[in-house]
Amino acid sequence: MKDNVSVQGTAHSDRIHDSAIKHVTGRADYTDDIALPAGALHAYLGVSDVAHATLKGIDLAAVRAAPGVVGVLTAEDVPGVNDISPTGLNDEPVFPTDNIQFHGQPLFAVIAETRDAARRAAELAKVDCDVLPHALDPIAAQDAGCPYVTKPLKLERGDIAPAFKTAPHRIKGRMNVGGQDHMYLEGHIAFAIPGEDDEVVVQCSTQHPSEAQHMVAHVLGVPSNAVVVNVRRMGGGFGGKESQMNLFCAVAAIAAKKWNRAVKIRPDRDQDMTATGKRHDFVIDYDVAFDDAGRIEAVDGSFAARCGFSADLSGPVTDRALFHADNAYFYPNVRLTSHPMKTNTVSNTAFRGFGGPQGVIAAERIIEEIAYATGQDPLDVRKANFYGGEGRDLTPYHQTVEDNILDRLVSELEDSADYRKRRQDIIAFNANSPVLKKGIALTPVKFGISFTATWYNQAGALVHVYNDGSIHLNHGGTEMGQGLNTKVAQIVAEAFQVDIDRIKITKTTTEKVPNTSATAASSGTDLNGMAALDAVKQIQARLVDFAVKKWEVAPEEVLFRANEVHVGAETIPFDTFIKQAYLARIQLSAAGFYKTPKIHWDRDKGQGRPFYYYSYGAACSEVTIDTLTGEYRVERTDLLHDVGRSLNPALDKGQVEGAFVQGMGWLTTEELWWDDAGRLRTHAPSTYKIPLASDRPRVFNVNLADWSENRELTIKRSKAVGEPPFMLGISVFEALSMAVASLADYKTCPRLDAPATPERVLMAVNRLRDGG
Ligand code: MTE
Ligand code: HPA
Ligand code: MOS
Repeated sequence: MKDNVSVQGTAHSDRIHDSAIKHVTGRADYTDDIALPAGALHAYLGVSDVAHATLKGIDLAAVRAAPGVVGVLTAEDVPGVNDISPTGLNDEPVFPTDNIQFHGQPLFAVIAETRDAARRAAELAKVDCDVLPHALDPIAAQDAGCPYVTKPLKLERGDIAPAFKTAPHRIKGRMNVGGQDHMYLEGHIAFAIPGEDDEVVVQCSTQHPSEAQHMVAHVLGVPSNAVVVNVRRMGGGFGGKESQMNLFCAVAAIAAKKWNRAVKIRPDRDQDMTATGKRHDFVIDYDVAFDDAGRIEAVDGSFAARCGFSADLSGPVTDRALFHADNAYFYPNVRLTSHPMKTNTVSNTAFRGFGGPQGVIAAERIIEEIAYATGQDPLDVRKANFYGGEGRDLTPYHQTVEDNILDRLVSELEDSADYRKRRQDIIAFNANSPVLKKGIALTPVKFGISFTATWYNQAGALVHVYNDGSIHLNHGGTEMGQGLNTKVAQIVAEAFQVDIDRIKITKTTTEKVPNTSATAASSGTDLNGMAALDAVKQIQARLVDFAVKKWEVAPEEVLFRANEVHVGAETIPFDTFIKQAYLARIQLSAAGFYKTPKIHWDRDKGQGRPFYYYSYGAACSEVTIDTLTGEYRVERTDLLHDVGRSLNPALDKGQVEGAFVQGMGWLTTEELWWDDAGRLRTHAPSTYKIPLASDRPRVFNVNLADWSENRELTIKRSKAVGEPPFMLGISVFEALSMAVASLADYKTCPRLDAPATPERVLMAVNRLRDGG
C-alpha cells in the first residue's frame, strides 16, 4: 500500500521483536520474575526411582517432619479427577495411585515455605512397590507385546505388491532416529493464587493456556469459568510447553486451594528433563522399489515410536510422521503405518516439527539408498522423484500438491551455493585426503500447514481502541520468542494505518479470548493474525459508518492513512477522530474470530485435505569429518526458505536460522540415553550437548525466497515459518553421510543412525573401512 510510507512497523517490513531490548537487558518479565504475594509457598516433586512397578504405598513421615514443610500432596488430595491427559483418554494421572510407569515419574509434591526446603524434603520419602519388568524402546515394547498408547494410522494409495514384484530394484533397511530435549532456556514453571469460592488464577509458561485452564478445572472439580490462566511470555517452548505444563499448573492450583496460599512450582533442570516429555525417537523400517533411473515405484514404511507411558500427543505426532514420510517426493504406490508404542519412559510430546522431521528423514534415507545403489548424485535422485508432472501430485493421504515451488527453489539454491562444482571439488579432495573427508548435500523440505485435528484451526482476538487513540491488542496465541506478538501488531498497525508504537501487546489470558488452541503447528500468525484483522475490520466498519453519517460522505471517502483519517476533503489525526467517535458513542472494541477454510480429514479412511497449504525450503551443507576421531564441523550452509510474502523478513530469517541450528543439533550432538534401569542419564547440559555458537556453520547464508507468495488467502499471503526450516538441518546429516560414504568410494549407503554423534560417525567409518 503506497500511502503508508510514514507509518512505522506495518506488515512486510523488518521490525525487531517487540521485547528484543527487554530480552537482552534482562527486563522482560518471565513467570519467575513476577513478585509473589505475601505468604507464598513452594512446591517440589518427589519422583520414582524405578521404571515400572506396582505401587503399594509411600511413607511420607520423614518428608512431613522435614524443616519448612507445610504439607504433601498425593493422589488422594486431588479434589476433582486425577487426570491431566490432553486427549481425554484418562491415562495420565497427576500422581499415580497403584502403578509406577517410568523412572522419574512424579509421585507426590512437597509444599514448603521455601523451594529449597521442599526440594530437600522430597528426597526423604520411602516408596513401597513391587518392581515389574519394563520395556524402554519401541522394539523392546513390540517384542514384549506392549500395547499401542493410541490408535495407529495407515496411509495407503495404489498397490505396492505388484510394484515390489516387478520393479528392477528393491532395498529394505532400518533407521533409528533419536529424540530430543527441548532445552528451552526457561524451564517449566507455574504459580497459582487462590481466589474466593472456587476461583484460582494460574500464571505459567504454557503454549496452551486454554488447555491448562481446562485441566486445572478438571483436577479441582470446578467449572472452567472459575479458573484464569495467564501467560505473558515463555523463554522458549518448542512444543515442550504444549501439554507438559498441565502437571505443574495442576499441582500449583491444587496446593493453592488446599492451603489457601499462593503456591509456586519450578523444577530444577534435571527434574525438568527427566519428568517432562521430549521428541519421539523412532525406529523406521523401509522397503523401496525403484527403476534403473532411480525413480521410486513403491514404498512400504513402518514407523515405530517411543511414546512413553501415556498417549499425550503421540497420536497426532505419529500421524504427522506419516504425513511427511513422502517429504517432497511422489510415491506411485505406497503404504505407511504408524506404531505408537507404549514404553516405560516419560511420555513423549510435541517438539518443533511434531513428528514431521522423523518422517522427512526417512524419505531422505530412501533417496540416499537409491542414489548409492544407482551411482547417482543424490540431488538428481531427489529431482527425479519430486512431486510434479502428469499424475504425479497426489500424496499418500490423497491431498493434491497444488502449490509446489521446489523445482525453482532448489535450482536457485543449487546455483547460489555452487553445489555441482563444490561436489566435484569435494570428491577430488577426498581422493587425496587420507584422514579428513568432506561431504556435501542439498536437501529439500515440504511441510504441511494446519493442525491435523481440524477443530484446532480456529483463533480469537480482542482489540480495544481507547478514546485517546491508543490500541490494546490481545489474541489467543502465546509468545515464546518466535515474534508472534510483533507480527500480529504489525497486521493491526497496517490495517488501522497507525504506527506500531500506538499498539500495546498484552499478556495472553483465558479471560479475554476463550477456547483457544495451542500456539503450535506453526500457525500462530496465520490464525491469530487473521482473528485480529477481523476485529480491526469490525471496528473500522463502525468508524466508517460514523464518519459517513457525521460528515455526509460516501463510505469510499473515508480512508485510514498514515496516522490520520481522511474524510472527504478533511484530514483528521487518528486520535482526534477516535475521540469524536467515542463522543458519538461508537463501540470501539471488538472480538475477532478466524477458522481455516478448505481443510478436512477422515482419519479412518486416511484421506482428506489435512493441510491448507505447504511451506517449502532447501538447504545445502558442507562438512568435514576426521576419520580418526569421528569429529566433524560444518564448513558452510546455504539456506533458501519459503515464507510466502514475509510479514517481517528479519523475524522470519531469525526463525529459519534458529530452526536450522536446532534441527542440526537433533541430528548431530543431542543424544538422549537411558540406562538399563530406565533412568535418563543425559539430564543436564553437562551430558546433553546442544549446538553452541561455535558449532554454527563457518559460512552461513540465509535467504528467503522473496518471490514466493501464498496462493491461498492467508494473512497478507504469508506462510508459516516456525517449524518447516527445522528440517533444513537434515542437509548436515546427509553431508556427514556422504563424507562417510567416501571411505567405500560412494558405493555403499552408510546407514548412519541419528543423532550422528562423533562416536556414531567413527563407527560408521570403521564399518565401511572393514567392508561392512
Ligand atoms: N521460536 C522461538 N524463539 N521459541 C520457540 O519456542 N517454537 C517453535 C517455533 N519457533 C519456538 C520458536 C514451534 S515448535 C512452533 S509450533 C512455532 O514457533 C509456534 O509459533 P508460531 O505458530 O507463532 O510460529
Ligand atoms: N501440531 C502441533 N501441535 C498439535 C498438532 C499439530 O499438528 N495437533 C495437536 N497439537
Ligand atoms: Mo510446535 S511442536 O507445533 O509447538
